[in-house]
Amino acid sequence: MDNLMEWLNRLLEEMLEDLHFCFVTSQPSQGRATQNTRCMKNKARNQMLTGWNNLCRRGKEHAIIRTRPILEEAIGELCNTISAETLVIADLGCASGPNAFRVISEIIASVEGHYIRSGLCPPEIQYFLNDLPGNDFNSLFRSPYLYERRTSDQEVVGCLPLYVVGLPGSFYGRLFPLKSVHLFYSSYSLHWLSQVPRGLEDLESNIYITEESSPNSWKVYLEQYERDFSRFLKLRSKELFFGGRMILTSLGRGNPPTCGENTHLWRLLSDALRDMAFEGIIQWDKLKAFKLPIYFPLMEEVKAVVEKEGSLSIEKVHTFESNWDPLDESNEDFVLDEVSSGQHVASCIRAVVEPLLSNQFGDGIIDDLFSRLAKNVAKHMLKGKPKYLVFVLLLKLKG
Ligand SMILES: C[S@@+](CC[C@H](N)C(=O)[O-])C[C@H]1O[C@@H](n2cnc3c(N)ncnc32)[C@H](O)[C@@H]1O
Repeated sequence: MDNLMEWLNRLLEEMLEDLHFCFVTSQPSQGRATQNTRCMKNKARNQMLTGWNNLCRRGKEHAIIRTRPILEEAIGELCNTISAETLVIADLGCASGPNAFRVISEIIASVEGHYIRSGLCPPEIQYFLNDLPGNDFNSLFRSPYLYERRTSDQEVVGCLPLYVVGLPGSFYGRLFPLKSVHLFYSSYSLHWLSQVPRGLEDLESNIYITEESSPNSWKVYLEQYERDFSRFLKLRSKELFFGGRMILTSLGRGNPPTCGENTHLWRLLSDALRDMAFEGIIQWDKLKAFKLPIYFPLMEEVKAVVEKEGSLSIEKVHTFESNWDPLDESNEDFVLDEVSSGQHVASCIRAVVEPLLSNQFGDGIIDDLFSRLAKNVAKHMLKGKPKYLVFVLLLKLKG
């Protein structure tokens, strides 16, 4: 596993090095001085990007590890009941970072382990990497991980033939032929809604619902989540092979709310944006028009959608908490260094929502915004260590 981590770090650095190279060569008409300045800025930005992505990766790795027992169980049941020559697996919302490969290697290791233990003839694996069309699929397919798998002797035991396919498209639409997928996997993606729901005027300058928001705003978000998640389940149930499994890891919220609720985090970002509007750095009407297309459900809301949609049954549910600061692996309920932790959290949030915010408010405000967020998070951490809630669900088609 250590080798894999080393390799993943190298991969990320190489990908960013490539980005740097492309930037320089695609500006042939620029003067050398301008080019150099841009190169330096770009290199600095890439170094920051490496930092942010590494931070976020640490948090999500934690989720991958906590999902392992459910994954092992799902693969074991799947391989015992299905005798396909090719096992079809899809990671929905894979993104373009090293976590996509962490998921592939977890799944492949689990399948390999199962067949080595059972002594049965292993299948070949067709593995789909799905995300929105804007995802950087090229960087995924340039990775040494896939290259090494392609060129290795695929007949060797412990190295199953693996055929990886990129699949751009929204998981709120059909992605696969009927009954063709044996295992769906999705982590940290289903809190993204298909759109910002309409009817959020009550939210005023908040970019997401808060505990003080009107019942109507909560209802509007919940209804959009119910429509989207129900559609997702309906589509996947058509595409899932009978006996297949689906593992969904998603961010949720608890009842009663804790200081680690995701809603608090977005409220701290709203506070930072509001301060900038008061200072005239951003426009109020732009702030009021900006809402996030996300929703963090209660477990009972998740279960209600699955039951109402009706095609799948929940086989297993696992819930765990994860520290807001991905680098804080301690179990104490206080934060040791809230200033550094605030910066780590702000960097992670930046990696997730920077494109949306730059699009609405321009690139120029981003550094200032996230340094304000870091301070707001640090202040919030004085109340206790905030942890967000993660749900893992194992589903299968009803019999
Ligand atoms: C936070 S990343 C999670 C990445 C990875 N699964 C992990 O666990 O590290 C969420 C990903 O979901 C993708 N996503 C959001 N909505 C989507 C949709 N409707 N269809 C496919 N992918 C989507 C985003 O583009 C993003 O890459």
